Amino acid sequence: MERPTPPHRALITGSNRGLGLALVHQLLSRGYEVHAINRRVSEDLEDQRQQFPDQLFLYTGDVRDEDSIKSAVAEVAKNVDGLELVVNNAAVHPDPERAPLEKADFSGYLEAFDINAIGPLRVLKHALPLVRKGHEPRIVNISSEAGSCGENWRSSEYGYCMSKAALNRATTILHEYVKGDGIKVLAMHPGWFSSDMGGEKAPITPEDAAGNIIGLITGKLPHPQALYVSPEGQPMQF
Ligand SMILES: NC(=O)c1ccc[n+]([C@@H]2O[C@H](COP(=O)([O-])OP(=O)(O)OC[C@H]3O[C@@H](n4cnc5c(N)ncnc54)[C@H](OP(=O)(O)O)[C@@H]3O)[C@@H](O)[C@H]2O)c1
Repeated sequence: MERPTPPHRALITGSNRGLGLALVHQLLSRGYEVHAINRRVSEDLEDQRQQFPDQLFLYTGDVRDEDSIKSAVAEVAKNVDGLELVVNNAAVHPDPERAPLEKADFSGYLEAFDINAIGPLRVLKHALPLVRKGHEPRIVNISSEAGSCGENWRSSEYGYCMSKAALNRATTILHEYVKGDGIKVLAMHPGWFSSDMGGEKAPITPEDAAGNIIGLITGKLPHPQALYVSPEGQPMQF
């Protein structure tokens, strides 16, 4: 495959299945070199490696565990001297039943905060030196409209919504930190798509959602100053 110039090198978390897997496939198809950090390698991800042996590099890491992320990124740094894209995609939903408050089970809430809000920071803490050396680098935190306080319709799912709101805030802090370095930081709502997390009734597929995201990442953002955007790239209310 013809590879784009300058190099297009991406780091992504949580690409075993769902949106992460679809993003990996579409990035590879566009000639990106993809460095994927996962807790385990699914058959589907292994298939991608077989299909794109020179472009897909897999590393073991759990975004809850900083040592594992530090080691994984150190391995990435042996293969690349810069990154054009980081996609923080790994996340969990601690409330799959969407139970009302009286029936809510809080046992997974701290873990969800750890994975969804702090996990991306663990990745970026170690990956920033590579991002700084990338060509027009972008950091994309896969958020959700669930994290919006201004566009809220939910009456349950406290843990998930709160963790994504925290991720949105992390995005704005990070933006302030790296804006002088020419690094674009974005929190993106990918839309409601079918997956283990999104369920079967969602109106779009992970492939559709990945297509929207890749279109925004690789194209011209309709609102370049926006930090939190819809699948169409429209600014969303924090
Ligand atoms: N589905 C939707 O409709 C929807 C809507 C809005 C936003 N989102 C967001 O879109 C992203 C992808 O969602 P999805 O529906 O594709 O989710 P999914 O199918 O449940 O997949 C989640 C991915 O995250 C990984 N992951 C979870 N915890 C991890 C950890 N501690 N360390 C490393 N990887 C971990 C999982 O790996 P394992 O296989 O090892 O568990 C899996 O690869 C998430 O950020 C989600 O919040 C989804």
